[in-house]
Amino acid sequence: MTGVLDFDELFYKHERVRWSPTRDLPPFSEIDRSKIDGDMVDGLVVLARTEFSSIPAILDLVRIFRHDADLTAWLSIWFAEEVRHHLLLRQWAEAAGRDPEGMVPELTRPELGDPPAIATLAVNVLGEVRTCRLYGAMAAACEEPVLAALLKKIAGDEGRHAQGFAHYARKLATADPDGAVPVLLRVGQLWCDPDSGLADANPAAENYQEAETAAAMAELHRRWVDPEREARAICSLFGDIAGLPISTPSDFATLRKQVRA
Ligand SMILES: [Fe+2]
Ligand SMILES: [Fe+2]
Repeated sequence: MTGVLDFDELFYKHERVRWSPTRDLPPFSEIDRSKIDGDMVDGLVVLARTEFSSIPAILDLVRIFRHDADLTAWLSIWFAEEVRHHLLLRQWAEAAGRDPEGMVPELTRPELGDPPAIATLAVNVLGEVRTCRLYGAMAAACEEPVLAALLKKIAGDEGRHAQGFAHYARKLATADPDGAVPVLLRVGQLWCDPDSGLADANPAAENYQEAETAAAMAELHRRWVDPEREARAICSLFGDIAGLPISTPSDFATLRKQVRA
């Protein structure tokens, strides 16, 4: 069966590994309280707040891609999964004795304007790769089995989100390499330079969170994620999207000079 939309195939990629909290995870009543790590729970609060920022993000994504029904169809899966991550992290923390009040932030929505579609996709690829690696590292270190199982499932979702955004970014880059590749390289280079942030590539990168949550997420990354392995994953995926050999962060600057980005 051939798909009319790219979404058709992506849908089944998600569906084949669809997991249910009630079927595929141990119930929260089985949380082993002797293995709860206070620092890990503090991290979960930050993650639950961050997942909630998918709500203002979806409003901009469906606006930016309002002419792209295929991508918008896929966003319906992305959004449902992100909101579910928020719910499950919050409910695990509540079951472990944490007050859930502080885990539902006020919604923050920047004035975004109309950023280039390819920049928006590239920034989302970055975000998904980074959260995938963060959840994966936390799952591997987590001694509480119910939470470890949940974090592992979420890491898998985030990895598929990265692949989904990358799929549509590759499609744009293939259709318009002259327009898309310089933007991809620019986003990549900005990500590699910790002082530059992503603001001038796409202000949505951090601004859906309050500053305090964004800073706490950066701290979680520093604590849990191996920066070199993460860099290799991001370079490889951006190289695949752009159709260019990108294996180290310095390749972004080198290639930008070649394409005069
Ligand atoms: Fe998520
Ligand atoms: Fe995600």
